[in-house]
Amino acid sequence: MQQTLILLKPDCVQRRLIGNVIQRFEQKGLRLAGLKLVQSSKELAEKHYAVHKGKPFYDSLLSFLTSGPTVAMVWEGREAVAVCRNLMGVTDGAKAPPGTIRGDHALSVQNNLIHGSDSAENAALEIALWFKPDELVRSSMADGSWVG
Ligand code: RTP
Ligand code: MG
Repeated sequence: MQQTLILLKPDCVQRRLIGNVIQRFEQKGLRLAGLKLVQSSKELAEKHYAVHKGKPFYDSLLSFLTSGPTVAMVWEGREAVAVCRNLMGVTDGAKAPPGTIRGDHALSVQNNLIHGSDSAENAALEIALWFKPDELVRSSMADGSWVG
């Protein structure tokens, strides 16, 4: 069972797309293990996107991620990292295929609604950055043996 960190970025919250996006993860069969609304500090945004420090879009990206509330979530399930990245679509909303979250609702490269961890290793680091251990809930779903 794999876990991944998903952020619904401030544009997703402001555009009232939270429910639309969460429904897609539920429908796929993933299980929600953590959920909260966060006003990200600059320090948190810097740590989260540390890998992009020095890139031309870094300062703008930090301003974007701190510009309003973000929904932080942990989803889990079989191959959750790749499954979520596929549901999201590629970074540039203009290139993301229809049917994906970014493909259906984003046109921008930066304002692309959602973040998803890109590896199991980064997922573990990002989950620890955004959540305290007691904010994550272990449980099983009633339909678990059917969804697999
Ligand atoms: P994320 O980390 O948010 O899940 O997105 P990603 O893996 O698809 O893309 P990544 O290369 O990690 O970039 C992180 C976020 O930075 C913004 N970005 N802006 N203006 C630009 O050229 C540019 N490139 C990336 C996006 O918000 C992207 O999701
Ligand atoms: Mg990334």
